[in-house]
Amino acid sequence: MSHELCTISLGALLSCLLLLAAQAQDLEEYVLTNPNGLEAHILPYGAILQKLIVPDYDGVLRDIALGFDHLEPYENGTSPYFGALVGRVANRVANSTFELEGKTYHVSANENSTSLHGGKYGFSRQMWAGRPFTNGSSSGVTLQYFSPDGDEVS
Ligand SMILES: *[C@@H]1O[C@H](CO)[C@@H](O)[C@H](O)[C@H]1NC(C)=O
Ligand SMILES: *[C@@H]1O[C@H](CO)[C@@H](O)[C@H](O)[C@H]1NC(C)=O
Ligand SMILES: *[C@@H]1O[C@H](CO)[C@@H](O)[C@H](O)[C@H]1NC(C)=O
Ligand SMILES: *[C@@H]1O[C@H](CO)[C@@H](O)[C@H](O)[C@H]1NC(C)=O
Repeated sequence: MSHELCTISLGALLSCLLLLAAQAQDLEEYVLTNPNGLEAHILPYGAILQKLIVPDYDGVLRDIALGFDHLEPYENGTSPYFGALVGRVANRVANSTFELEGKTYHVSANENSTSLHGGKYGFSRQMWAGRPFTNGSSSGVTLQYFSPDGDEVS
């Protein structure tokens, strides 16, 4: 298994103001907004899109993403991967075992004997490093997480 540098960029999503909001609760999050009231709430924990607030047909702002208000359900496995960036492997590894170039690897099982969405310590359970940026009239945040060789091998 090789080193992987995982980078996602959400800058194209929205233009305008970027706020790093330390919420009243236990959530650290980035909030991207635009003048129409649109808001994308992004957590460094799991690179999670926690809220996506958009105006509906009548102009009423509504959150159209499934998410939790607190960090705990994301951390303790209650959240069924709502809005999260999953990996290394998205979907299931049967028997939590695979072969690569003649060698057998075991990854952590988190759904009976199956490894689902990166197993017990997948990308959705890591703290990603957030870096806000501005480029002309656009701004956004880049989230980065380094997955070392052997990450997730149990
Ligand atoms: C996880 O956190 C939620 C929200 O705080 C709580 O309701 C639930 O009981 C917790 N579950 C576990 C397995 O700890
Ligand atoms: C998983 O393990 C079981 C029991 O050892 C075996 O019967 C089955 O073929 C394995 N499945 C895969 C996809 O390797
Ligand atoms: C895990 O195993 C239990 C007991 O055999 C079974 O009832 C359950 O459906 C399994 N869960 C999944 C997600 O396969
Ligand atoms: C900044 O925006 C311009 C125009 O959209 C684009 O061509 C350029 O690649 C962007 N630069 C970076 C560093 O993202």
